[in-house]
Amino acid sequence: MKAIVQDTYGPLDVLTLREVPKPTAGDGEVLVKVRATSVHADVWHAVRGEPYALRFMGSGVRRPKTAIPGTDVAGVVESVGPYVTEFHPGDAVYGECVGVNQWHNGGAFAEYVAVSAKRLAPMPARLSFEQAAAVPTSASIALGCLRDEGRIQRGQRVLINGAGGAVGTFAVQLAHAFGAHVTAVDSTDKLDMLRAIGADRVVDYTLVDYTQENVGIPYDLILDIAGNHPFSICRRVLAPTGTYVLVGHDHYGATGHKWMGSLGRFFPLMVRSLFVKQLPGLRGAGAPNDRFAVVTEMVAAGDLTPVVDRTYPLAEAAAALRYLTEEQTRGKIVLTVND
Ligand SMILES: NC(=O)c1ccc[n+]([C@@H]2O[C@H](COP(=O)([O-])OP(=O)(O)OC[C@H]3O[C@@H](n4cnc5c(N)ncnc54)[C@H](OP(=O)(O)O)[C@@H]3O)[C@@H](O)[C@H]2O)c1
Repeated sequence: MKAIVQDTYGPLDVLTLREVPKPTAGDGEVLVKVRATSVHADVWHAVRGEPYALRFMGSGVRRPKTAIPGTDVAGVVESVGPYVTEFHPGDAVYGECVGVNQWHNGGAFAEYVAVSAKRLAPMPARLSFEQAAAVPTSASIALGCLRDEGRIQRGQRVLINGAGGAVGTFAVQLAHAFGAHVTAVDSTDKLDMLRAIGADRVVDYTLVDYTQENVGIPYDLILDIAGNHPFSICRRVLAPTGTYVLVGHDHYGATGHKWMGSLGRFFPLMVRSLFVKQLPGLRGAGAPNDRFAVVTEMVAAGDLTPVVDRTYPLAEAAAALRYLTEEQTRGKIVLTVND
């Protein structure tokens, strides 16, 4: 089969299209004929091997343990391995090739990938393969941050900083569906799109610093994806009983934190969460492992629809990642496979 392969960490030209052996479905696995996969910030991190900390978190110290990148998959079941009873050849499925919040290559940038049946779900009929591939990783992290860490409630004032990207476009729709009043912060050209997907108010970060505003405040929940202000500044517009959830963003290497990336901001916040009620600490870790199931229900019900900026063929994976890192993308970038 054809796949995008990297033998080493590095700039995007380490990615090459090659013939590699077709995988087989092991115990509890499903072999999926991939129709689409997505490109997002964590794929970029795993390809670059940055921050370096990720290499010591299972990705591979000197070179990636899994040579084929990609975490999200949408496609058709080719065959199933032993002990898989819930899927059958021909089923349209989608899901994540790696566990939640792991900075690993997952093998999805290929014509076929073997995935644990536990990480797949039947693909909602209202989505195309391209739309479905945009959902799993980004929507699941958005749900975890808002529901499990943020404990979002109906009627709350919620601010989403970095709302127009992959995680943010799901977070806006989720917060709207949970009945919150949503303020979405992003760049000028994305504001109409953000209103269309459920933002009640928008803030153009190129003109206004939301931490200095005197309207719409205080917020009950700040979901900080862009992470461009320290918590001590964000607190200015957060209610005393409110919650600040950091997703964090390295801005594709622009922050210059090559060793720890945004992890360097999480550890101090974890410690402070022992004393500051506005920080969720490890609250999300004890939450039920049902995020993808809930996301799938919400997609099927029409509460969540992925925003797909553009699609590229699999062979142009490097160009897709370059577009993600160099342009002001809206929502997700998708790769089409086996077209
Ligand atoms: N995507 C996933 O599936 C996933 C999964 C797990 C973890 N994460 C983590 O989540 C983080 C965010 O990921 P993402 O995929 O949503 O990133 P993204 O697609 O790059 O979106 C980031 C958004 O933030 C905006 N932004 C940039 N500077 C800003 C500023 N100063 N103020 C407000 N907004 C600003 C960007 O807008 P402009 O480009 O217009 O400036 C963009 O819309 C990353 O650290 C990633 O590692 C992502």
